[in-house]
Amino acid sequence: MQKNEWQLTLHSSVPLHKQIEESIKEKISSGEWAVGTKIPSQRTLAQAFGVNRSTIVTAIEELTAQGLLEGKSGAGTKVINHTWNLLATPPPPDWSSYVEAGMYRPNLPAIQEINEAEFTPHMIRLGTGELAPELLPTTQLQAIFQRLPERMISLGYEESKGNLFLRQQISEHLQKIGIKASPSSILVVSGALQALQLISIGLLQKGSSILLEKPSYLYSVHVFQSAGMRLFGLPLDQQGVQTSLISKYKKQYNGALLYTIPSFHNPTGILMSGDRRKQLLEICKQEGLPILEDDVYRDLWLDSPPPKPLKADDQNGLVLYLGSMSKTLSPGLRIGWIVGPRPVIDRLADIKMQTDYGSSSLSQWAVAEWLASGLYEKHMENIRTQLKHRRAITLALLEKHFKGIATWSVPRGGFYLWVRILPAISSQALFEKALSEGILLNPGHLYDRHSTQYLRISYSYASLAEIEAGLVRVAELIRQMMGKQ
Ligand SMILES: Cc1ncc(COP(=O)(O)O)c(C=O)c1O
Repeated sequence: MQKNEWQLTLHSSVPLHKQIEESIKEKISSGEWAVGTKIPSQRTLAQAFGVNRSTIVTAIEELTAQGLLEGKSGAGTKVINHTWNLLATPPPPDWSSYVEAGMYRPNLPAIQEINEAEFTPHMIRLGTGELAPELLPTTQLQAIFQRLPERMISLGYEESKGNLFLRQQISEHLQKIGIKASPSSILVVSGALQALQLISIGLLQKGSSILLEKPSYLYSVHVFQSAGMRLFGLPLDQQGVQTSLISKYKKQYNGALLYTIPSFHNPTGILMSGDRRKQLLEICKQEGLPILEDDVYRDLWLDSPPPKPLKADDQNGLVLYLGSMSKTLSPGLRIGWIVGPRPVIDRLADIKMQTDYGSSSLSQWAVAEWLASGLYEKHMENIRTQLKHRRAITLALLEKHFKGIATWSVPRGGFYLWVRILPAISSQALFEKALSEGILLNPGHLYDRHSTQYLRISYSYASLAEIEAGLVRVAELIRQMMGKQ
């Protein structure tokens, strides 16, 4: 909910709580907040209206007395009525029962909270997995957009696999990391997340299982679970995912696919070694277990380039390979790609056409230009320098303020530090406390429900001053919480 969604008149003769009451009534009577809707928390409303919580409480009490709202402890406050003359109108549809019936799983509550809090002004975002606004090449992209008319870009629908010029550029880009993929075996998608979505509905059966690293980014989205699949986690060590359980899990749980993030894993930052990559490929080949290689962080290496992708050594069409522009250029352009055997790409392209008729043609042209002009490589050199500096500062801050209360290892690329909190405090409670002070954390349980002692700290997004202020305060909060045990 945006702050400017609500306008109060400060110097009016109508008291603020009355104005708030009227604004909420408007939402209810217009049907925007239909019967059954859980209204935002008092804290969120107070923030959005820019008033004290007590003013919100007064307005809600009044609306409750009028029979429009009902509060239940633990379940929040809901709209129970939408009209003042109850008898005259037929009952409205119960939208909440539709909402609960929808087959797609909702986000985890903490993720919903994070998604909302990310847009609260002045929030210190210590866990965000994207480049800081000042690291995004805004001016260069503006220049590219200005040049686009010279390319006579089409504003019509693009080919089902995506703009050919872009696929040619991606094909050349992949060749530099050892992947031979012709444009016809590449599908342009609206971010790597859409590739996961297409795979879940286009290639896999309900009731099958996905093997994956534990923890993993994949636990924080419900793409596969919503399509009726279960996730089985494999342990990680400093070399990457351990392979000893793969054969057992494949048989025991009807394993259909192994999902891995070999380069600068989200959330642990681990880089899979060359040997482990060979071993993983070999075992999956023996088991006939396809691999989904999510390589969206590959180009963010900070010390030396990572070992070749699994896909580069795949001679059996075992590996589906994902890339994206989100982590290096712009998450807002929503451009990613998937590489795989022709029948798979044809199938996924067919589903994509049925889903959205292709990704934005403007974004596709901009990314194609970005790659073709050589700006990508130059930009990445700058990003690496900046991220290296940010990593060094963040590590120094951790050393200074978290020594004795946490452990971590040094990532060789990507955005993340996987910080283990030593005292047995609840990371959810820490998340709530920090949020109430304007610091947004990504607690470990989002990536594995057992990782309750971890935080994913990102050095890519917040400014260095914010990282310092945020980390200092989080360390203080941890020490306070320890004292209260
Ligand atoms: C490992 C991994 N894969 C995929 C994605 C989604 O990326 P995109 O913005 O390309 O959809 C993310 C985003 O955080 C990620 O961390």
